[in-house]
Amino acid sequence: MGTDTFAKKLETCRIFTPTAPIDEKALFAGRTHEVSQVIHVIYQKGQHAILFGERGVGKTSLANVLTSFLNMTPGTILSPRVNCDASDSFETVFSKAFSEINLITQKKQVGFSGKNKSTTFTALDLFNGNVSPDSVRKALTILSTNFTPILIFDEFDRLKQRVKNMFADTIKSLSDHAVGSTLLLVGVADSVDELITAHHSVERALMQIRLPRMKPEEINEIIVNGLKRLNMTISDAALEKITLLTQGLPHYAHLLGLHSSQNAIQHSREEVSIQDIRDAVILALSGTQQTIQSAWHKATMSPKKDNLFSDVLLSCAMAEPDELGYFAAADVREPMRTVTGKDYQIPSFSQHLKEFTEEKRGPILQKIGTPRRYRFRFINPLMQPYIIMKGVAGGKIPFA
Ligand SMILES: Nc1ncnc2c1ncn2[C@@H]1O[C@H](COP(=O)(O)OP(=O)(O)OP(=O)(O)O)[C@@H](O)[C@H]1O
Ligand SMILES: [Mg+2]
Repeated sequence: MGTDTFAKKLETCRIFTPTAPIDEKALFAGRTHEVSQVIHVIYQKGQHAILFGERGVGKTSLANVLTSFLNMTPGTILSPRVNCDASDSFETVFSKAFSEINLITQKKQVGFSGKNKSTTFTALDLFNGNVSPDSVRKALTILSTNFTPILIFDEFDRLKQRVKNMFADTIKSLSDHAVGSTLLLVGVADSVDELITAHHSVERALMQIRLPRMKPEEINEIIVNGLKRLNMTISDAALEKITLLTQGLPHYAHLLGLHSSQNAIQHSREEVSIQDIRDAVILALSGTQQTIQSAWHKATMSPKKDNLFSDVLLSCAMAEPDELGYFAAADVREPMRTVTGKDYQIPSFSQHLKEFTEEKRGPILQKIGTPRRYRFRFINPLMQPYIIMKGVAGGKIPFA
């Protein structure tokens, strides 16, 4: 491999990052509506926000680049982002946030030099030991006279209920006192109720922003922007395939972007073709996390050779879901026809669906609703594109 090829391949890894959140505005695609919703909250005194959505839709990335969309004097924004976990108390989580805010004071030195002496400290020093909803409000009141504090709490869903309730108290207090600072809570959930049940008292102060899966044009933007940085392009047909395979999940856009661009570079081409996507699918499948691969095996294994488990699972992955990712048994029929070439009625695969929701096959699906009206969803959303890619690799889905 020539040095140029090698260097260009390395560059693809900087641009397509399937396992790392985006931290640079230039690589951040789409999300115009959601970004402007959060910005609106930041500019409104007394308003706070909760950003929620499925695992892997891009919540951390949005939180990371958020401040670069603000039209404020550099240096005036204080935006620590902390990751919450189950062992955190209110005190530890806010201590983490405030200790990430570095402040400097300038004092004129005694004597004739006229020089200033600067001392650095963290915002945690504003507390005298006790970190409570009230002392947090007081510290933020002091900080907001000269700065715009935006405190971001990622993985908020992992906190204990008692701690979440204290967040609700804090938000209520910050809002009642019209303190010019914003708390942004970020978490995996279908609804805000799952994240913060004590939210009724804070409903008006807490804007709920749901981050849905990405639209096809947003997925396209990830690919096209990334390739542009590499001085590369992609054919329309190849771009369409990526959109279809990723199912709105940006992780897979990065994964396929990475492998397909490297494949094109390897063959000294500047345009990514459909053949590159096909090769990228194979590479992406072998590089997929072991947990996902074994979940597929567990869900589809059977001693009978011509069993339907993998076909039904693939059809579930291809079924048209609603906004929250749920589909009904009836939605599986049409994909079953594409996958098997036969017309299966619901009773011939309803037992398979049932088993997918049971321990012995994972469970790989979760089920809501009542008998005959059940709706299903993949427990791990990242499973769905993996299954579709397996279908492509195994020739079950037409790919030309
Ligand atoms: N707007 C975007 N533009 C480009 N790439 C994105 C965007 N949003 C997310 N990504 C990419 O998608 C993947 C998942 O993003 P991220 O980690 O931000 O999601 P998340 O919702 O925080 O996931 P989790 O629920 O696991 O914490 C990463 O590879 C990231 O680089
Ligand atoms: Mg995240």
